[in-house]
Amino acid sequence: MSWTTRLGATRLVILTRRHAIKPPRPTAWHLFLSGLLANRTERIFAQTEWPELCPIRWSLPGGWLVVMPRCNEVTARSVWPSEPERTEDHLPDDLYERLVEHDDYRVPAENKLFSWGWYAGRLVAVDYGSPEAIEERMRC
Ligand SMILES: Nc1ncnc2c1ncn2[C@@H]1O[C@H](COP(=O)(O)OP(=O)(O)OP(=O)(O)O)[C@@H](O)[C@H]1O
Ligand SMILES: [Mg+2]
Repeated sequence: MSWTTRLGATRLVILTRRHAIKPPRPTAWHLFLSGLLANRTERIFAQTEWPELCPIRWSLPGGWLVVMPRCNEVTARSVWPSEPERTEDHLPDDLYERLVEHDDYRVPAENKLFSWGWYAGRLVAVDYGSPEAIEERMRC
């Protein structure tokens, strides 16, 4: 099986052929705690089934693990296929706003290419674990 890893700020991401397996980073206690919170937040938001969120295939309560389908990487080349000179690390503002801003919700993902993935031909957020976002949503 071919697999690789990515090191997020708070989670280790193990990429298998089909899945992204996201445990909290075990290297430092505070990162581990933040990783638990991020996973917990993604698990809660994924239940909304907003189409701009990468779905969660499997998860453990409490944030111990999240498993998503593996998305294709969003590169500047994939966003602007006919403009190879572009090197931006974020989406065009208007595209980003269209993805995140909706009448009844806002997708809690940052405008960084690495926070998004290509899934079934469309852009979805792969990092939507901001704990502030869940606090805000629960106040609504
Ligand atoms: N479903 C996915 N498919 C493919 N790659 C993914 C997926 N989820 C995460 N990744 C990759 O792993 C990286 C780290 O994941 P993620 O951003 O969710 O972790 P994090 O700890 O919140 O990191 P950070 O906040 O520093 O970006 C992402 O930038 C992306 O490259
Ligand atoms: Mg993050």
